[in-house]
Parts: sequence; C-alpha cells; structure tokens
Amino acid sequence: MITTDAIRACFPALAGPTIYLENAGGSQVPRVVADAMHEYMTGTYVQLGAPYDVSRRSTEVVDQAHIWINRFMGGEEVGEVALGPSCTQLVTMLAECYSRHLRPGDEIIFCQTAHEANYGPWLKLERFGLVINPWPIDPETGVASLEALRSLFTARTRLVCFPHVSNLLGEVVDVAAITQLAHEHGAEVVVDGVAFAPHRLMDVRAWGVDWYIYSTYKVFGPHMAALFGRHEAWEKLEGPNHFFIPNQGTYKFELGGASHEGCAGLLALGDYLRFVAGEPGEAMPERSTVATAMNRLAAMELPVQQALIQGLRRLPGIRIVGPDSFGPERVPTVSFLHNRLSPAEICAHTDAAGIGIRYGHMYAYRLCLAMGIGVEEGVVRVSAAHYNTVDEVERLIGVFRGAMRA
Ligand SMILES: Cc1ncc(COP(=O)(O)O)c(C=O)c1O
Repeated sequence: MITTDAIRACFPALAGPTIYLENAGGSQVPRVVADAMHEYMTGTYVQLGAPYDVSRRSTEVVDQAHIWINRFMGGEEVGEVALGPSCTQLVTMLAECYSRHLRPGDEIIFCQTAHEANYGPWLKLERFGLVINPWPIDPETGVASLEALRSLFTARTRLVCFPHVSNLLGEVVDVAAITQLAHEHGAEVVVDGVAFAPHRLMDVRAWGVDWYIYSTYKVFGPHMAALFGRHEAWEKLEGPNHFFIPNQGTYKFELGGASHEGCAGLLALGDYLRFVAGEPGEAMPERSTVATAMNRLAAMELPVQQALIQGLRRLPGIRIVGPDSFGPERVPTVSFLHNRLSPAEICAHTDAAGIGIRYGHMYAYRLCLAMGIGVEEGVVRVSAAHYNTVDEVERLIGVFRGAMRA
C-alpha cells in the first residue's frame, strides 16, 4: 500500500512550511501535472486543427483530455464532457441553453445547500417565465430531505439542481436516489459534484445523472472545470458556440475552446492516479485503475477526517455546522462556529501558525441565510485532502485550543 510520505513527495508545495487545509477552495497539484503543462507550453503551444505535425499533437492532447475526463467521471458510453474555465461559467452556459429549451411555466427545483454556482444561474431564468422552487433545508442541521423534495414536484418540473456535497456542510447525499426520484417525475438532474470529486470515485453512469459538474482545480489539476452530460441531454440543447460549428459533440458548448495547457495537465493527472493505484505505465488509465486510485485516496482521508471531527468535538464552545460524525457519510470538509470567538479571530491564530484555512460564507450565501449564520464572517472551514496528515490536523486543533484559551 502506498504511504502518505510517498504521496506527499509528489506535491512540490507540500515540501514548504505551510499546512494546506483549505483544499475545498483549491487543491495542490502533483509535479507531473505542473510539468506536463510546462512541457505543453514550451513544446506544443500552437493552435488546434492546422495541417502540421505540432498542431496535430496539440489537437490530440485536447481530444484525449476530453476522453480521459469522461472516463475519470465514469461517463464512457453514456455521455460526454465539455471542459471550461470554471464550474460557474459552465453552469451559467447550461442555464442559458435551458432558457431557450424550456417554456414559460416550466419549473426548476434547486437545493438550498447549493454553492451559488448551481443556484444563481437558475434563479436568473425567472425572467423568462420559468418557475424556480427552492428545496428547503432543516435550519438546524442543513439537511435537505427526500420527503421535502418529493412534495415539490409538479407536472411542470423539468430540472432538479443540487450539490452532491455542500462545500460548507460536507455531507454526502444519495445522488442515485434523488436522481431516481427526479426521473420518476420526468425531470432531469444537474448535480454539482465540486465538493465530492476530490474525495471519492465519481460514477455518473451508475448514478444515472443527466448532468454532473466538477472543478478540476480542486482535484489536483489545473484551473478548469468539467461538465458531464448524457448523450440525450446534450442532444436536446443547442450550444452557444458559433453558428457554423455543428451542434454535435461538446465543442458547441465550449465557447472559445478549453485551455490547451490545462488539457495537458488533466491528462497528467492520469499518471498520478496510476502511481497511486500502483499501476505504472504511459497509457491513459483504465477505469478500474481510476477506481483503485480513488478508493485508496478515500481510505487515506478517513483517519484525517476522524482526527478532525474528534479534535473539534473536544474543544469548548464549538458547534460543528453540518454532520458532526465521521465516516463515509461525509467528506473532510468541516465548518464550525465558536460561542465567543468570531471566525476572523480564529483564523488570525491559524494564519500566525502557518496554517491555511478560511472563514466566510463559502459562496453558500443562501445556505448561511437559511441557517441563521451571519454572512459577514460565515463559518470557519477546515478542508483536508488525501495528502494531509493526522499530525497536521492535531497541530491545527492545538492552535484552536490555544486561541480558545486566550
Ligand atoms: C460546491 C462548489 N460548487 C461550485 C463551485 C464553483 O466552482 P468554480 O470555481 O469552478 O466556478 C465551488 C467553488 O468553490 C464549490 O465549492
């Protein structure tokens, strides 16, 4: 089994003094990813589709990156991915496409646990006469229940938009069950997988989702995002790219195309996953290799998650916002409030100790409002990745303890 030291040695940033526990904001990248981007920019940095060798190679990189990320998400045979600069941009693009596809009076349900990226773009469709129904949460726990969802469907419901994991609460919801319920009512789902993807194996085919999105920069890659859609889902929409580009494949949905050097970095993530899986080689990893690697990363996170939750629970005056359990039902993204110290005051202590965490509403602005959390300072959020250690978490808890004693 691969050791944490061997994993950490792959990430140049981790050799420095900073403790990175703000991974839900953005993860670090393995050296292979950074090197691949450098090599692409210094060796193959030309435009796609031109009749010469270097251009053919750069075209291949971008094409292969699409195939790879679709495999990474588990979407082979059932769908395709579009790549873009961010999740926010891709959901905004998707909502714009739906504004032309749906009819006034059609309804969209969206979950109050959402990051604004999968909330605001849908809300803006009200101006086209679409009806937007919030899927409410329990204000104490932040849970959006299936019962609450069930009562919202009508004959006009067309879409259900929700996060797989809230980037503030850290709970994992049952995507397959929600998707099945939506499909029983004739609606499609748009799932924000951003806060899930760094921690577990994505399996869009098994879940049956229509749309699933994640940000590649939070999964050890370059600053981009990927939108998976089932073939039928893409086919019924008209993409916003230029009129002469055929409405086939996802290029019609990639305004100006995807970052080419980013595609080189995405492909190199496959090399890292091969290393994690203990299956060295040059070829694009098979889906089974992806599964082995992601399951290993998930297993590595568990002790870190446990140390974090247990450490926080022992601190006086703490309220964990979201589930205060540890295990597969959550990811190691944990938010909390203290009964005396403000989030900013707590983070001043961690900053002084060289530990990177953050406070705020985390763009889950409406979730904070629904839970009665002040949006000025929001919550303190600690978010670990597989490369973090129990030792790092214990140092963090020690800093919190000192701050709370002061
Ligand atoms: C759950 C979740 N969804 C969406 C986003 C937005 O992603 P992007 O920065 O790619 O637009 C974030 C970013 O933090 C997020 O945490």
